[in-house]
Amino acid sequence: MNDRVPILTIDGPGGAGKGTISCLVAERLGWHLLDSGALYRLTAQAAINHDVAVDDEVSLARLAEQLDVAFPIDGGRPRTMLEGDDVGQVIRTEEAGERASQVAALPLVRQALLQRQRDFCQAPGLVADGRDMGTVVFPDAPLKIFLTASADERARRRYLQLQEAGVNASLPSLLKEIQARDARDMQRSVAPLKPADDAITLDTTRLSIPEVVDRLTELLAQRGLVSGV
Ligand code: DC
Repeated sequence: MNDRVPILTIDGPGGAGKGTISCLVAERLGWHLLDSGALYRLTAQAAINHDVAVDDEVSLARLAEQLDVAFPIDGGRPRTMLEGDDVGQVIRTEEAGERASQVAALPLVRQALLQRQRDFCQAPGLVADGRDMGTVVFPDAPLKIFLTASADERARRRYLQLQEAGVNASLPSLLKEIQARDARDMQRSVAPLKPADDAITLDTTRLSIPEVVDRLTELLAQRGLVSGV
């Protein structure tokens, strides 16, 4: 990790808007983006490709360490490649998220992905999106945000997203899944989901996406991490 490269960590539960917000802030600043959840989702997908059981910790950690991934930009659209295949859609389903959450609870898998995540820290800066960016992966980051929203609001956002994509979904079952995933992510023994001691918590339940992006750029400017944005 290069200490002089500014890092903004954005942690929080699923559906709080981390992905969208991280992407927009990185774009506005011209910084790199680490979507750490994608690495857990890709590890879970690699396990399916290689017939590895979701509780075989040693084999999963080996897969995570050797993960053959690439994030090329194709015609302005970011793609997610695993072993040469575009898995951008496959890893975004609810089931893939559920498997990722199980895989992410295994300490050896988390350890295997640690350095790969730190390698994303490159000039001019990094926006790191995840659950343990501020607590474990980048503990010295100069600005740490814990982005949250009520479970009802997160389920509602996910429901609208799925509807837009033409996928049938039920709001009550999405809410249940979100609550179960929150519980697993918060209760696991290694790198549980929680705000870093020095994180700023931002509740997005009643905030629009542009309002959150503006607030984060303001905070970055206040800390002297960016100028003129
Ligand atoms: O952010 P996401 O929904 O793509 O993450 C998928 C799962 O991966 C989520 O249930 C928790 C886990 N995860 C994690 O444990 N640590 C991270 N830094 C990022 C994601």
